[in-house]
Amino acid sequence: MEVFTLKSQYNDWRSKTADKTIGFVPTMGALHNGHIQLVKASCLNNDLTVVSIFVNPTQFNQQGDLTNYPRTLEKDLLLLEDSGCDAVIVPSVEEIYPSGLENFINIDLGYLDTVMEGAHRPGHFKGVIMVVDLLFKLVKPHKAYFGEKDYQQLLVIKKLKETQNYSIQIVSCPIFREKDGLAYSSRNLLLSKENRAKAKIVPNVLLHSIEMFKKLTIEDLKKWVEVTVNSVSGVSLDYFEVVNQNNLKPISSHLIGEETRFFIAVKIGGIRLIDNMIAE
Ligand code: PAF
Repeated sequence: MEVFTLKSQYNDWRSKTADKTIGFVPTMGALHNGHIQLVKASCLNNDLTVVSIFVNPTQFNQQGDLTNYPRTLEKDLLLLEDSGCDAVIVPSVEEIYPSGLENFINIDLGYLDTVMEGAHRPGHFKGVIMVVDLLFKLVKPHKAYFGEKDYQQLLVIKKLKETQNYSIQIVSCPIFREKDGLAYSSRNLLLSKENRAKAKIVPNVLLHSIEMFKKLTIEDLKKWVEVTVNSVSGVSLDYFEVVNQNNLKPISSHLIGEETRFFIAVKIGGIRLIDNMIAE
C-alpha cells in the first residue's frame, strides 16, 4: 500500500495508473468498520482503491470539535493495509489549502443546507463541498463511496457532482451498525463507557418512532422522541425529522412510503451523534 503526503507524489502514481479504474473513499480518519465496508465495496468494483485521511478544518463549525476530533493514523494505516486499499493520501492542511481556507468552490445548496445538519451546523456543508471538490480533482476517481449515516452529506455530494458535471459515480453504502444497533462513527470513540451504553437510545428511538409513526400525529411523535431522549440524564435531542429521502422535505401523512426516512441528532455528554433509518 502506498502512502502519500504530497499531491505531487499522488499525481506521479496516478499517471502510472491511468489505465486502471479508481475507487475513492474520502475519510477524516479514526477509521472503523463502517469505513472498511466502503473500502471493501470499492475494492470489489474497481482496479485500485484510494483512501484519503484528512481532518478537514473548513467543515467544523466549532473549534473545540475540530481539536477533539479523534486521530488514530497508525491504526488507520494498519486497517487499510488489511482491507486491500492500494493508496492512502494523508495531506497536511497546507497541502490541501495552499492559499488559505477561503475562496474555494461555493455551490448554492438551497433547501438542502437549511434543514437538519445544515441548520444545526452552519457552514458545515460548505466546508464538505470545498474539500470533496479539491479531493475529486486530485484523486480523479471513477467511483466515490459514501456511507448513508451521513445521508444529508450524500445528497450534498450528489449536488456537487451535478453542478460541476463530474463523471464520477457516487456510490452510497448502507449504515453499518455495532451489535447493539449503534451506527459506527468515529465520534463513538469519544464516548465514555457510561455514555457508550446510553448511546443505544439513538437507534432504539429511531426504530420505535418508525412503529409509532403509524399511530401518532407527527407533532405527537416529535414530542414523544423529545421527551424520551431528554429523560436520559446527560442526553439531549438536537432534532428528529421524518422526511422524504429524495429532497428532505417533511412528511406529514401517516403513510410511510419507500422514500420516508427518519433522522435524529443527539448529544450525549457533549458528543454529537447522528443516525437515520428508512422505514422498511
Ligand atoms: O464524511 C466524512 O468523513 C467527511 O465529511 C468527508 C466526506 C471525508 C469530507 O471531509
